[in-house]
Amino acid sequence: MAERVLITGAAGFLGSHLCDRFISDGFHVIGMDNLITGDMRNIEHLIKLEHFEFYHHDVSKFVHVPGELKYILHFASPASPIDYLKIPIQTLKVSSLGTHHLLGLAKAKKARILVASTSEVYGDPLVHPQNEEYYGNVNSVGPRGVYDEAKRFQEALTMAYHTFHGLETRIVRIFNTYGPRMRLNDGRVLPAFIGQAIRGEDLTIFGDGSQTRSFCYVDDLVEGIKRLLLSDHSSPVNIGNPDEITISDFAKEIIALTGTKQKVVYKPLPQDDPKIRQPDISKAKQLLGWEPKVNRKDGIQKTYEYFLSLSKEDLYKNEHKNFGSYIK
Ligand SMILES: NC(=O)c1ccc[n+]([C@@H]2O[C@H](COP(=O)([O-])OP(=O)(O)OC[C@H]3O[C@@H](n4cnc5c(N)ncnc54)[C@H](O)[C@@H]3O)[C@@H](O)[C@H]2O)c1
Repeated sequence: MAERVLITGAAGFLGSHLCDRFISDGFHVIGMDNLITGDMRNIEHLIKLEHFEFYHHDVSKFVHVPGELKYILHFASPASPIDYLKIPIQTLKVSSLGTHHLLGLAKAKKARILVASTSEVYGDPLVHPQNEEYYGNVNSVGPRGVYDEAKRFQEALTMAYHTFHGLETRIVRIFNTYGPRMRLNDGRVLPAFIGQAIRGEDLTIFGDGSQTRSFCYVDDLVEGIKRLLLSDHSSPVNIGNPDEITISDFAKEIIALTGTKQKVVYKPLPQDDPKIRQPDISKAKQLLGWEPKVNRKDGIQKTYEYFLSLSKEDLYKNEHKNFGSYIK
């Protein structure tokens, strides 16, 4: 009998790659998603498989799954600024109420649960690079507060279930990740630049371009998550790529890779946009023997090829989703 794993956010970018990984590792995967930002096309290749099931469900409501569960991976949450600014209440609910429901399910099933936290818990960091001991610099009432504070609450709730109920919990703090199945228009810099280059538009930099980011390829992230899940570490662990680059230099890399003749244009920096972001991954290296393997050039090439394979309609879509029916 294959061990059963529940993956929430299964139709999203990271969730779908996790489904692929657990299927190829011989698990029976139950994917759950309400499709608020996800897309069934990300998992349509899995639907026909005997060891994949899909539940169309909002985890902010009570979650029921029949049968045993070995692991739960809670990845449901809007993750890009464009998404969580449009659906702030759902964002707060999925990491608070949703996490509560999944922790309850893990307790009932005696399952180990791993929750997806984020580098955003460090906010606009005053410590660089960010290690897990840094408490962060978050504006709770700023525009990004709905995401950052929900994730901070998620961590606190998860830790409380661990200490109070003895639940086996894992917390991964994910730094910017990229790869195939990202959405072109989700407001993140990498798909934004590639999309602009493919459409023959100028590349937009918000601010003066001196802010830094570091990008982890999705296969590296999935490997780190799997190792953390199988480890015995309940405290948060950063997973990301410490290879830091300024947004200006990154724009130059995309221009070189795509061969676009377009130029760079500058727009004002949005409020609370982090100026520096780089993970300290000493803990992941030491505890999990993990570090990223895919270099940026190779990872971006694979992502670029994925974006080139999209239909014209997807390339020119301004917004991925109409959230109208979800706004409550
Ligand atoms: N991609 C990154 O770089 C990154 C960085 C840090 C943290 N994370 C975390 O990883 C997780 C996945 O992010 P992603 O980039 O794959 O985003 P995504 O938007 O592609 O995927 C999220 C998925 O969750 C689903 N979802 C949202 N609310 C739901 C709900 N209430 N019930 C059921 N399903 C729901 C969406 O429909 C979507 O399929 C998120 O928790 C995010 O906070 C991602």
